[in-house]
Amino acid sequence: MSDQEHTIKPWGGRFTEATDAFVERFTASIQFDQRLYHHDINGSLAHAKMLNKIGVLTGDEYQQISEGLEAIRSEVEKGDFPWSITLEDVHMNIEAKLTERIGITGKKLHTGRSRNDQVATDIRLYLRDEIDNISKELSRLQQGLIDLAEREAETILPGFTHLQTAQPITFGHHMLAWNEMLERDYGRLQDCRKRVNISPLGAAALAGTTYPIDRAYTAELLGFDAPSENSLDSVSDRDFAIEFSAFASLVMTHLSRFSEELVLWTCAQFNFIELPDRFCTGSSIMPQKKNPDVPELVRGKTGRVNGHLISLLTLMKGQPLAYNKDNQEDKEPLFDTIDTIKDCLKAYADMIPAIETKADNMREAARRGFSTATDLADYLVRKGIAFRDAHEIVGKSVAYGIETNKDLSDMSLAELQEFSNEIEQDVFEVLTLEGSVAARNHIGGTAPEQVKAAAQRAAKRLQSR
Ligand code: ARG
Repeated sequence: MSDQEHTIKPWGGRFTEATDAFVERFTASIQFDQRLYHHDINGSLAHAKMLNKIGVLTGDEYQQISEGLEAIRSEVEKGDFPWSITLEDVHMNIEAKLTERIGITGKKLHTGRSRNDQVATDIRLYLRDEIDNISKELSRLQQGLIDLAEREAETILPGFTHLQTAQPITFGHHMLAWNEMLERDYGRLQDCRKRVNISPLGAAALAGTTYPIDRAYTAELLGFDAPSENSLDSVSDRDFAIEFSAFASLVMTHLSRFSEELVLWTCAQFNFIELPDRFCTGSSIMPQKKNPDVPELVRGKTGRVNGHLISLLTLMKGQPLAYNKDNQEDKEPLFDTIDTIKDCLKAYADMIPAIETKADNMREAARRGFSTATDLADYLVRKGIAFRDAHEIVGKSVAYGIETNKDLSDMSLAELQEFSNEIEQDVFEVLTLEGSVAARNHIGGTAPEQVKAAAQRAAKRLQSR
């Protein structure tokens, strides 16, 4: 390496030998941070415009810089940009290229700025756009759930606790339970966006800069809500990424639980729903198989997203102020989290509207599991029996049902009266599945009437986003 080659590095001035080849690869981030190019260019354009406004760059210089940066953007988009590991990261690659294109003026772009505030700005801009993409996909999934809930507001299936048949519920009610979880996730994401949307630009390396910069102006140009308050915090804070990652872990946890149900519901033993073939795959050895790979993979991918949350928390826990190179390790977990949840949300948003329910099977399962036992107990309470005694009476009749292989609604009036002479002909109304769900007719209850109203409220909330 010639004497000059080590000064290729924008920081090479004080160095007397070239970087070790391994160290160069080890410390570089260009392999993964090149995806920030678009936001890096936008950040630089705003910075240059501000430098022009305060008189640090002339109008002509700003013009050259902005044309040069736009040309670089097109080059990257065409796939022609020669990313170089020697230039370490996306920021130095673009800046070096700018200088190559427009000459000495390119070297003025970095006035009053550091890569420390630059990278913090880029990630926030990038994440903000992805939050907006994810918000849309989350809304599309929720719309699918609400539509499915309306469509299946009267379809009955067994509800479970401990995965044991508990009480009959409606399929629509079950879908709206998932929608509530996603509604909270959406709220968390919007809340996180507020803290992402603060501009660190101008914090420079850590202490601010000696130029009379206008931080409110760059914040406004970039669509940030405000400039950040403290320069040390601005370059070292990654809370926003952790917060996003926590949101992602929760949404994945919800999708993972949902996946578990879909996997159970598609198996021969439950056989409650059918997923269209296009969302499933087969087995190379067992010809009969149709596997619910999409929900299974979503469930599996929850592991990596949760892992990224722990990576980011651990990354930050020992760092003194302000910027440390450790922070370069924020990108891969964050990017992979974004990619993974976008794919998982897309898979779900596409798949949910295509679910076909098998109402007869669900009904049969609800009928088989003594799911109206609580209704019988409530009936006895209405006849004047104390709930604990009613519970005991129904328990005995269930034991009899198990012995004789009869559901409560299959027993004759005489058989039921063996357990309590308060039981009369009208008992059969409460022992039906329809009677059971219709009776739970209050806000949050499973009655079809309530489900339809809840679906409408959910749709309204969604439309007002
Ligand atoms: N590639 C670096 C990162 O991702 C950019 C900031 C580097 N700053 C520095 N002082 N080395 O964090």
